[in-house]
This record gives sequence, structure tokens and C-alpha cells, in this order.
Amino acid sequence: MEKVFGLIGATVSHSFSKSYFDEKFFREGLRDYHYELFPLKTITDLETLLKDTKGLTGLNVTIPYKEQVLKYLDEVDGFAKKIGAVNVIKIKDGKLKGYNTDSEAFLETLEKWLPKDRKFKALVLGTGGSSKAVKEALKKLKIEYNLVSREAKKGILTYEYLDKNPKALSESNLIINTTPLGMTPNTETMPAIGFEHIGPDHFVYDLIYNPARTMFLQKAEMSGANIKNGLEMLHVQAEKSWVIWNN
Ligand SMILES: NC(=O)c1ccc[n+]([C@@H]2O[C@H](COP(=O)([O-])OP(=O)(O)OC[C@H]3O[C@@H](n4cnc5c(N)ncnc54)[C@H](OP(=O)(O)O)[C@@H]3O)[C@@H](O)[C@H]2O)c1
Repeated sequence: MEKVFGLIGATVSHSFSKSYFDEKFFREGLRDYHYELFPLKTITDLETLLKDTKGLTGLNVTIPYKEQVLKYLDEVDGFAKKIGAVNVIKIKDGKLKGYNTDSEAFLETLEKWLPKDRKFKALVLGTGGSSKAVKEALKKLKIEYNLVSREAKKGILTYEYLDKNPKALSESNLIINTTPLGMTPNTETMPAIGFEHIGPDHFVYDLIYNPARTMFLQKAEMSGANIKNGLEMLHVQAEKSWVIWNN
């Protein structure tokens, strides 16, 4: 029986999810399985997609719909509900259930990457869907963190604050970019932080994987920091999606 999986998001052409699943289906001889890219102008277009796509079994969700999609779901897994963002949807008997695999994927890849003998304090740039998943992972790992947003909100730092208080940057030895700045095709953009306050003791993780080295990671590397992109996280969250769709 034909089974269709796919990715919904505002722009999805940058994504490696399709090539990941195409290769997986080929390798595993799953000839009736397909993974499609579904760009949606607005999240309301999801309803038409669900009506028109025969055999639709599972979806991944990307920017900017990880939070907006919640109201279209019949059920949300407890962990995804706690996070407040969904990046995986399982469709069974016409019912949609949402899950979050970003958080565990981030946690596993971060834990593997960071040296065990150091204490970390994090700055999380951006407050969207993946920021929420990252936040939950940092809580589990007992890593103290601050969020950074373009907008001044209670308990959240702004980029202007970092400008005026560079100590907040130099004293946060783990910096995580969860904004889309620098992602293909907008590779000339990056979060506005002072790289002169970053050095060899810093670990800089960019959730973006396309390009492999964003301008943000290049600048961090030039400042002597340790860097990591989001490719491993993408693969781990995709495998976790696969387990959910097949359960
Ligand atoms: N590697 C992976 O597996 C993986 C997984 C998840 C996400 N990602 C990547 O992470 C990025 C974010 O995805 P998302 O789903 O979290 O998106 P999202 O829900 O739209 O959130 C992005 C956040 O970034 C900030 N932002 C947006 N535009 C900005 C701008 N022009 N300047 C500064 N900040 C801006 C906003 O926070 P403020 O309004 O607070 O500034 C926004 O809430 C995407 O590039 C996505 O591909 C990768």
C-alpha cells in the first residue's frame, strides 16, 4: 500500500529531510513509501493538504509552523505538550497526533559533543518552536540558560542587552542559534552578537545545517570557538520520527 510522508513548512526546498527519507526507503526496499515536500503559504492550507493527499501517514513540521500546528491536531503527546511545539505528526484513521523529537535529538547530540568535565551556561538565540525544544533539553541536562529575543519580554534578554552587557556573552560558554538567520538562501545573515567576546572556551551550536557552516559558525570558528551544525540533530530527529510513524 502506498504510504506518503512529508515535510510542511513555509519554505521547504532547503531541507535535507526528503533526501534522507528517499535514501532510507530505497535502502530498505520500501518502494511504496514516498517522502514529499509540502510548502504551505499559511498553516490553514494544512486542511486542503490532508484532504487531497492519499495515503498520508506522517508529517514533519518546520519553520514557522511548529507552534501554529498545535490547534490542528486531535491529540498532542505529553512531552510535546510540555514543550509547546510539535515537529512530528502521525496520521491514523484520519486523526492527527503531534510529537516532538527535536528536543531529544538536540539533547543527545549536545551531550555527545560537550566535554563531560566542564560546567556550561547557555544563551539560546530565538524563542520559536525549536528554541522551546532546546530549552527543555537544557533543563534535563541541568544547564543554566538565558533566552535571547528581538523583543523585550519578561525574563528574556535582547540583542541590545548583549551589546551593552558583553559579560553575558563572554560568561555563557554555550551559545545556540535557533533562529533561521543564515539558512539557505539567506546565507549572508546571522544573529547580531559580538564575536569579540567569544573565544576558545566557547561552544557554538547552530541548528541550521544548510549551509553546513553558516556565517554565524564561521565567525565563531574564527574567534576560536568550538562549533557544531544541525545535521546530526536532523538525522536523529528523523529516525525518531520514523519510529513514531511505525509504532
Ligand atoms: N537541525 C535540525 O534538526 C533542526 C530542528 C529544528 C529547527 N531547525 C532550524 O532552526 C531554525 C528555526 O526553526 P523554528 O522552527 O524554531 O522557527 P520559528 O518557530 O519560526 O522560530 C524562529 C525564532 O527565531 C527568531 N527569529 C526569526 N526571524 C528572525 C530574524 N530575522 N532575526 C532574529 N531572530 C529571528 C524568532 O525569535 P524572536 O522573535 O524571539 O527573536 C523566532 O521565534 C530553522 O533554521 C530550522 O531549519 C533545525
